Amino acid sequence: MNLKKLAGYEAAELVKDGQVVGLGTGSTTHYFIQRLAEKIKEEEMEILGIPTSYQSQFLARKLGITMTTLDEHNVELAVDGADEVDPQLNLIKGGGAAHTMEKIVDSSAEKFIVIVDDSKLVDELGTFPVPVEVIPQAFRVVAERLEAMDGKPELRIAERKDGPVITDNGNFVLDIQFQKISDPAALENELNTIPGVVENGLFTGIVHEVIVGTQQGLEILKL
Ligand code: A5P
Repeated sequence: MNLKKLAGYEAAELVKDGQVVGLGTGSTTHYFIQRLAEKIKEEEMEILGIPTSYQSQFLARKLGITMTTLDEHNVELAVDGADEVDPQLNLIKGGGAAHTMEKIVDSSAEKFIVIVDDSKLVDELGTFPVPVEVIPQAFRVVAERLEAMDGKPELRIAERKDGPVITDNGNFVLDIQFQKISDPAALENELNTIPGVVENGLFTGIVHEVIVGTQQGLEILKL
C-alpha cells in the first residue's frame, strides 16, 4: 500500500467547493494535488490554489488548477507534508528546501492539515536535521552562531548542480543537527533571531490535524 497516497487522497476529500487552498510541497503533497485536480474536474468545483514552491506551482498548472496569490486571497485550508511530526504536532519541514514559503502559507491558513506516512511520527523532533534558509552572504557567520548553539550545521549541496542548493528565493540552506531539541517553539524563535536567517524548518503550534497513512489504514491526530 502507498501510505503517502493514502494520506494525500484523504486530504483531498476535505476540500470544499469555493475554497482557497494552500498547496504544500513534496512527494506526499503530490498525491494531494493530483487527487484535488481530479475532484475539481469530476465535481466541477471552484477552487483556487496558492502554491508553496515552484514544484507545486508547476504541478498544479499542469493539472489545470487555477492559482492565486497571498496578495489576492487568504488561505482557508492548507495541506502540506512533513519530515517529522512529534506528539504535540510540532513539525520539522524543509527536506525539499521549500519551508519558507510553506510556513508563510501554512501558518496563514484558517486550517492547516499535515499529511504523512507513519515513518514521519517521532517521540521527539531532531533526528532529521533542522533546515535553515540563509541569505548567501551571511552563511558563514550564521553557521558560527549555530555552532555556538551546539548545532552542527552543514551546507546543503545540490545533486545535479555543482555547489550549494539554491532555494526558490535565491538563498542557501544549512541543515542543523542538534544534540537534543527539548523546546521546539523556543528553538524556532531563537533561530529566526539570527541576522541572515530567513526562516527555519521548525513549525510549532500551527497544525490543526495530521492525517497519517499506516498499513492498517488512516489515523487522524489532533490535539
Ligand atoms: C519541502 O521542503 C518539505 O517541507 C516537504 O513538505 C517535506 O519534506 C515532506 O516531503 P515528503 O512528502 O516528500 O516526504
